[in-house]
Order: sequence, then structure tokens, then C-alpha cells
Amino acid sequence: MPVVQKNVSLASMNTLGLNAVAAEFAEIHTKKDLVSLKESGFFENSSLFILGGGSNVLFKNEISKTVLKVSLNGIDIIEAGGETVLVKIGAGEDWHQFVQWAVNNGYGGVENLALIPGTVGAAPIQNIGAYGVELKKVFEELEFFEIQTGKFKSFAADECNFGYRDSIFKRELKGKVVITNVTLRLTKKNHKINISYRSLADYLENKQIDQPDIRDVFNAVVAIRRSKLPDPESLGNAGSFFKNPVVPKSTFKKLSEQYDKIPHYPVNGENVKIPAGWLIEKAGWKGKRVGNVGTYENQALVIVNHGGATGEEIYQHAMKIQNSVKKIFGISLAPEVNVVE
Ligand code: FAD
Ligand code: EPU
Repeated sequence: MPVVQKNVSLASMNTLGLNAVAAEFAEIHTKKDLVSLKESGFFENSSLFILGGGSNVLFKNEISKTVLKVSLNGIDIIEAGGETVLVKIGAGEDWHQFVQWAVNNGYGGVENLALIPGTVGAAPIQNIGAYGVELKKVFEELEFFEIQTGKFKSFAADECNFGYRDSIFKRELKGKVVITNVTLRLTKKNHKINISYRSLADYLENKQIDQPDIRDVFNAVVAIRRSKLPDPESLGNAGSFFKNPVVPKSTFKKLSEQYDKIPHYPVNGENVKIPAGWLIEKAGWKGKRVGNVGTYENQALVIVNHGGATGEEIYQHAMKIQNSVKKIFGISLAPEVNVVE
């Protein structure tokens, strides 16, 4: 049975470096721990928050909730015949370390997702994505603990309702389940190299790598990310603060009459995705600092804690950016980061 501690500082457990305190805190290492906690009544507390690596959360208040930290480990190959492998990974495993393990073993499919912080268990929550690939591309199934019934259940991809930075776990099942492991299908050969993302293709071209393998893609993604994104170890942040807005083609057309170089990506026949970073930069926020909070100098979509900022300050800063983009462009930005009240 895990020890339930009181007043535990979460400062080292969130990448924004916020000084939040958990009123109650328990860490689970096995599935049995979940069952014991259920029997002890731990889950009857209505203010439960499930924490992975804390790289996509903003604790708005200093005294926060009852926190359950998920630290279930293990990487197991459960099927290896044919051209693919099925790998079952404990929810508490570090995502990037898992990607490294895959590349070192010659397994393809996750190399574009290198260097994304956080845990494997959180990856399906927002269907993590980067450099032209989303988790759903390699996803096979996951297992979760249903808090209300105390039962373990499995979901296949079609039950997870994956979308752009979205899934059923951010909606109907938010806070109701604890993901315990995730199974992914990776390629052993005939890897599907994806260099469709412009900056990735440009990087490889500059390095004169015209037939990249999975390690080349991995190395390129790591290098590009290091040049653009701040390392939370030295500058607190939670990655992109907002999602890139998806707007109707007509809205995009009007905007492009005014700004002819507006970057954009077609989503389907009717909608276009516009980089929020571009909108925020154009609105004058790039690299701007107000007190302890600012936006990153190389990437306006990343809100940074220059040290000592409170959750409320970061939240208010984000709202100012949101209002200003709405006023200038008429576009509403939606936060990607999970704001914990
Ligand atoms: P946490 O922040 O701990 O939690 C996130 C959410 O998931 C919370 O709502 C939490 O309650 C829930 N949760 C966590 N674990 C579980 C579980 N086991 N069961 C149920 N619910 C759970 N994201 C991208 O998609 N692409 C990127 O390129 C990217 N780049 C980033 C770069 C930086 C520098 C940073 C700081 C973040 C970046 N992110 C990116 C965001 C973040 O890394 C991902 O969202 C990651 O999956 C969060 O994992 P975590 O373990 O830290 O989750
Ligand atoms: N841009 C600007 N100014 C900026 C930032 C970006 O003009 O300050 C422009 C760039 O010039 C480029 C475009 O916006 O034309 C896209 O920029 P970038 O390639 O950096 O990607 P992004 O759209 O800002 C998204 C994800 C990232 C992911 C990268 C790579 C979202 C919300 N963010 O960022 O994910 O790593 O693409 O795929 O979709 C995260 O979710 O936390 C995250 C970091």
C-alpha cells in the first residue's frame, strides 16, 4: 500500500517550476497499488489529480489537490513475429527514453516524437504529436484503471477518439481513469520514414542526408527541437501553451489578403491550421517579458517562467496573449496545457 503523504511540494514535479503543494500525495509503482488505494478510500476524495511528468500542467493555485503520481515501469515486447513488434510500456516510463530504446533496437515509428518530455501514460491523453507524426499512428491499445468501479479495462485506438492534441481522456473520461500501460506497434524493417514536416526535410537536406534512416530522423528532430524549445531544466515551460487554431478557409483567405506570408497547413477541404506562434509573434509578444513571465525568444508559443512566477501570473499572462490575438486577428486560441484549478 503506497504511503499517503500530506503537504508535498510539487515544485520538482512540474516543468513550469511552480511552487504548488499537494494537500495529499501518493505514488504508485504497481497495479496492485491502485487496488490498495481504492480499498483505502483514497479515490473518494473529489479533488483528485493524476500526475505523470508534469510537463503539460499549470497549477493555478498554490495549494492544490490530492495528487496521484503514476510511476509504473516496464518495457516488454509482447509479440515479435512478422515485420512489426508490439511493445507494452508502463505508464510511468519516460517517453523520450522509450523512443531512444526503440531507435537503439532498430524499431521504427516513434523517431519523429523524440525529446517530447513526460511519461508514456500521458502520451495518449493529448495524442502527442510532432514533426508530422502523432501517437495514434503507432498506437495499438492501452489499459486503464477505472476509478469508480476499481476495474482494469482496455481500449483500442478507435475507442480513444484521438484528434489533434485531443482524446476521450481529455473529455468524457477526464480524471476518471488512470492509464496503466500503453501498447504500440513498431516496425522492424521497411520503416515508414516521414520527413513531410518542412523544417525536418530542410534540416536533412542541409546535412546532405538524402536517404535518412530512423536514427537520422531521430537525430534531426533532437537537433531542431534543441534549437527552438527551451530546456525546462534551465527555463520553466510546458511546451506550446496553446493549440494551433483550425479556421475555415474563408477566415484564412481574409487574413492572407492582409498578411500575404501567413504560414498555414491544409487540414481538410474546408479548414486550415494556422501556427499560433506566428499569430502571437505578429501580436508583438515574442520574447516579451512581463515580471517573471514571458514568451520564449525563439518560439512565441512557449510561455516561460523566468523564475519565481506563480501559476496565477502565468495564467493571466496567457489570457492577455489570448485576448490580444483575438482582438487583432479575430481568432480564439485554446490552451493546450492542462490548467489545474
Ligand atoms: P502531465 O503533464 O503530468 O499530465 C498531462 C495530463 O495527462 C494531465 O491532465 C494529467 O492528469 C493526465 N495524465 C498524466 N498521466 C496520466 C495517466 N497515467 N493516466 C491518466 N491521466 C494521466 N506535446 C506534444 O504533443 N508535442 C510536442 O512536441 C511537445 N513538446 C513539448 C516540449 C516541451 C519543452 C514541454 C515542456 C512539453 C512539450 N509537450 C509536447 C507537452 C508534453 O510533453 C506532453 O503533453 C506529454 O505527453 C505530457 O506528459 P506528462 O507525463 O508530463 O503529463
Ligand atoms: N512561427 C512563427 N513565430 C514563432 C513560432 C513559430 O512565425 O514564434 C511559425 C514558424 O515560422 C513556422 C510555424 O510557425 O512557420 C510552425 O512553427 P514550428 O515548426 O515551431 O511548430 P509549431 O506549430 O509552433 C507545433 C507543435 C509542437 C511541435 C511542433 C513540431 C502545437 C500546438 N505545437 O509547434 O508541439 O513540437 O509543431 O511538430 O501543435 C507542444 O505541443 O507542446 C509542442 C511543442
